[in-house]
Amino acid sequence: MTRTTARIAHLRAAGVSFAVELTGPLPRVLHWGADLGPLTDDDLAALSRTAEGVVLNNAPDSVRQFTVWPTEAENWSGTPAHQGHRSGVATTPRLRLVVAHESAGELVLQLADDVSELDITLGYLLELSGVLSVRTELTRQVLTDGQDATPYDLAGVTTLLPLPARAVEILDFTGKWCRERAPQRGTLAHGSHVREVRRGKPGQDAPHLLTVGVPGFGFRTGEVWGLHVAWSGNQRWLAERSPEGAGVHGAVLGGGESLAPGEIRLAPGESYTAPVCHFVWSDQGLDALADRFHALLRARPQHPVTPRPLTLNTWEAVYFDHRVDRLLALTERAADIGVERLVLDDGWFTGRRDDTAGLGDWAVDPEVWPGGLGPLADRVHGHGMQFGLWVEPEMVNLDSRLATEHPEWILGPSVGLGPSARHQYVLNLAHDDAFAHLLTSLDELVTRYRIDYLKWDHNRDLHEAVGRGPGGQDRPGVHAQTEAAYRLLDALKERHPRLEIESCSSGGARVDLGILARTDRVWASDCNDPVERQSVQRWTGQLLPPELIGTHVGGPRSHTTGRVTDASFRQLTALFGHAGIEDDLTARTPEELTALRRWVALYKAVRALLHSGRVVRADLADDAVLLHGVVAADGGSALYCWARTGTSGDGQSGRTRLPGLDPAARYEIRVRDDAGLPVAHQVSGPAWYTAALDGWVTLPGAVLAGAGVPLPTLAPAQALLFEVRRVQP
Ligand code: GLA
Repeated sequence: MTRTTARIAHLRAAGVSFAVELTGPLPRVLHWGADLGPLTDDDLAALSRTAEGVVLNNAPDSVRQFTVWPTEAENWSGTPAHQGHRSGVATTPRLRLVVAHESAGELVLQLADDVSELDITLGYLLELSGVLSVRTELTRQVLTDGQDATPYDLAGVTTLLPLPARAVEILDFTGKWCRERAPQRGTLAHGSHVREVRRGKPGQDAPHLLTVGVPGFGFRTGEVWGLHVAWSGNQRWLAERSPEGAGVHGAVLGGGESLAPGEIRLAPGESYTAPVCHFVWSDQGLDALADRFHALLRARPQHPVTPRPLTLNTWEAVYFDHRVDRLLALTERAADIGVERLVLDDGWFTGRRDDTAGLGDWAVDPEVWPGGLGPLADRVHGHGMQFGLWVEPEMVNLDSRLATEHPEWILGPSVGLGPSARHQYVLNLAHDDAFAHLLTSLDELVTRYRIDYLKWDHNRDLHEAVGRGPGGQDRPGVHAQTEAAYRLLDALKERHPRLEIESCSSGGARVDLGILARTDRVWASDCNDPVERQSVQRWTGQLLPPELIGTHVGGPRSHTTGRVTDASFRQLTALFGHAGIEDDLTARTPEELTALRRWVALYKAVRALLHSGRVVRADLADDAVLLHGVVAADGGSALYCWARTGTSGDGQSGRTRLPGLDPAARYEIRVRDDAGLPVAHQVSGPAWYTAALDGWVTLPGAVLAGAGVPLPTLAPAQALLFEVRRVQP
């Protein structure tokens, strides 16, 4: 819903308002946050009249404004919307609004700057989900007589929106291999909280969602503002607060690409498109922010709508030990317990006996697979399963035919390559021949083996990522590499529209909405230990709905932590995502296989709910327990996982509210024991739970969601599944 008076554009959707005053020289942001309602012209004028703070002592003489393109020209001392120069000059941009219009619900502002000779398009789209998506494009003006043709060196573009003074608590994410998306919280003090991502991908420590809120916000409560930068290359995220504020606002949230010096040089007529930045607001905590992102993603035309197939991935089952008989036996076991997609992981291509060789040579190793992959692919398809294959197209081992024949395709300095990582280097996808070679190789593989799914990996950071120009003129290449990777994915999808692709990067180091615009799920982490996974999945879900998050049941002893856990905990943890198995099924006992078969059936029975409902997470005082669930879109049913990852000082849960239910409705609740029951750390009870073990127990929403119910005290590394349905009063 948009209302545009002559002067003020007011966008409204899903409880969010965004108001911009279209006065010159630059439009100023009047409001982003809670829906202000259907404002009249007078109301909007009042919003404008109150959009100025005080003129401070010893300060700029004019009233501070926060415009859509803050620079020093308006006395803005924070990070500017853009920076750059033309061979050392033209460093003080002075933008002006040329025209504003609305197109397909998007507020489009055309700005121009005669100093840097740039035309700028800013598009604000307030989506139906309430997510405000901001796109930015800069074009160097076409030369007129007498103008300087020197390229404009763009140092950075930052998309900025204001935050109110009350938003002073910050939450973002860090992490490492096998522990992605670890939350970090603190105070937004004066100064800049900047996350500069220089890995050529978001990384295991990606900011993920930079959130600032009124102190004390949780999953279910609190006012929060968040930002996601939808880009898979280098990035900059910031929250910045200064004593003088940002116009009438308190601070800013900003994002963009982190550009290397000289990376973007705009000759007349050339353009630069900045990453889309998605801004979200809610006054109902982090769950509501997640809800908006999930709605945004689910509304995409390409969002997967077919049931997410139960997957078996061979990595932790066989690693590099590829033997046809062994993999055929694994396929039989998989088919027998109800697996729907088998993914052959790393180790199938020429020379790939370990991770030191072979990357780049995307041909089946005839020594390991004398008959090619055909016999396996046929067996998999013969069982009605989909066939998937692991690839890592952007990478190369020096010990490969490709590196020997085309050293010039490697992305790195011409004076010599720097250190390897996982024994590998990066291929320059912006090199036309390298790109064409990869597209042909992948296309042939997908066609020959009727591949349904690619697990697309990316196992090193991009350092010294320079494309080799003529005469050793190495030019920064991360931006071009990121765009080329997108083009490669797009081209492959265009040739194979039904092909699904998983974004993997040493686990979950490339989880962003740029890559997800052309892939179908992410591998959240290489860690299948359910204790760790509860946290990784919880926070990956802050951005992505469960159907886009790969979640696998590993073996009893985690390969990455050494921790031994019960099958029921592993299974209930993997249930809340796009579920699969990553274990050598041929080593499982008949009893273990029976248990897995039951869990597979459970997943198939509940995935329609899990992959369409609302994710809910309870705010609990005890860090060692988690209560999370998915509530059907119509509120009629729900599944909850009550999990304990470690011991804690608390003996009792006390009355605990099930999040996402209607206190005014009436419900039935029961325990689902399909994945078995947990080990409890108690003698018995609570009584309602004992009854729910035997069947449905009727409880009013006022108790389940209002007063709360006591939950059993579980032993560490245990979980329990509850099913809830609404009944007529
Ligand atoms: C990465 C991935 C793993 C696996 C291996 C194969 O580490 O994250 O899941 O595919 O590569 O080498």
